[in-house]
Amino acid sequence: MDAIMSSVAGRATKSEIRELLKWTRRADVISFAGGLPDASLFPIDELCVLSERVLRTRGYHALQYGPTPGEPDMIEALVGHMRSFGEEADAERICVTASSQQGLDLVSLLFVDPGSPIIVELPSYIGALQAFARSGADMRGVPLEDDGMDIEALKAALAGLDREGKKPRFIYVIPDFQNPSGVNMSVEKRRELIVVARERGIPIIEDSPYREVNFSGSTLPSIWTLAGGEGVILLKTFSKILFPGMRLGWIAAGQPWMDKIIMLKQSVDLCTASFTQFIVAEYIKEGRMRDTIARAIACYRVKKDAMLAALERSMPQGTRWSRPYGGMFLWVELPEGLSSEAMFERTAERGVVYVKGRQFHCDGSGAGTMRLNYSFPSIEQIDLGIAILGQSAIAEQGSVAEQGSAAGQGSARPEDSQASTAPRRSAEKV
Ligand SMILES: Cc1ncc(COP(=O)(O)O)c(C=O)c1O
Repeated sequence: MDAIMSSVAGRATKSEIRELLKWTRRADVISFAGGLPDASLFPIDELCVLSERVLRTRGYHALQYGPTPGEPDMIEALVGHMRSFGEEADAERICVTASSQQGLDLVSLLFVDPGSPIIVELPSYIGALQAFARSGADMRGVPLEDDGMDIEALKAALAGLDREGKKPRFIYVIPDFQNPSGVNMSVEKRRELIVVARERGIPIIEDSPYREVNFSGSTLPSIWTLAGGEGVILLKTFSKILFPGMRLGWIAAGQPWMDKIIMLKQSVDLCTASFTQFIVAEYIKEGRMRDTIARAIACYRVKKDAMLAALERSMPQGTRWSRPYGGMFLWVELPEGLSSEAMFERTAERGVVYVKGRQFHCDGSGAGTMRLNYSFPSIEQIDLGIAILGQSAIAEQGSVAEQGSAAGQGSARPEDSQASTAPRRSAEKV
């Protein structure tokens, strides 16, 4: 049919990560690709009990349409949940969402017109880039440092936009165990960011799915908290700390944004499913979240350590990777001359998949990087999968060196091409 589709549909692109999620259901594939929790942590027995209880005691409400901002029970539970993690938000500042991806969609609808400049981290979460791109945002990437966004580079980007006569609609950051880099933004930078954004009247979008998955035991204050909730929109989700299958999250925001967010959500889905909200509200109110999160932390810490050890054993010299103390991902920088795109097929053919780093860069850079997820695979899969990844990288080095000498230029990087027998070396994220 000769139908004319919208310009929004035209801008909607396939996300590689969503494509890769289908690999996670294949038993013969070791997936380091998606940001999936370990399914053995899902509290299935408890959910059976709670589901039945919700249906029997308030089934008529649970199966009915509900209020757009969320069920009052759920909002009350969220206020308590946030407080137990040191964050304050009044009930009227909270809107329940179908997880953070909907939060990102609503933020795009709230702020972005085609061509609107926005600031994102370089690299940043693919799903956010996808939502912003769909709205037609003009994304300006600001590099990350060890301790979060490079604030001087941010100031330079803002000055550049000033010269173009433009003001960014928002600054989007993932301060806690960033996806994909694992970087945690320091308190100093969180404060500096608030100052810079306030001076210019730019909203900060703080997306924080991984904050609670913290191996160190000490949590930094959120940007939301440091800013007293002013000028910040906080996106939260249960996907990483409980399970993603119910698609439950929430937005915390002040006025006038919250009223608009609720109006926009109404036009998107009327309301989030009441049934799942009642179940999770009960789960929180029974005080089960602390234990659930503690189990996730214990599980992911061991897996993270296993992946670090496997990288140390298997990757060629010159490879660098992050050593995060929370979250679900390791960020790998391949030896110079290697591309995670070029070696993808070779690795996937042997049953191992990861996410190519370029996907996370709004400026198309990052070909020499990749993101590895450690929460989903088993320890055995981590050991085997990283060994295969290492062999792939070494084979790729061989191909690059061969192409180099065929072209009469010698190896792309001779010291690295001998690395398969050299002692392994690792480094913190640069
Ligand atoms: C930084 C970030 N934001 C948002 C999301 C979306 O998660 P969900 O929609 O499951 O809450 C993810 C998922 O990986 C993420 O890493």
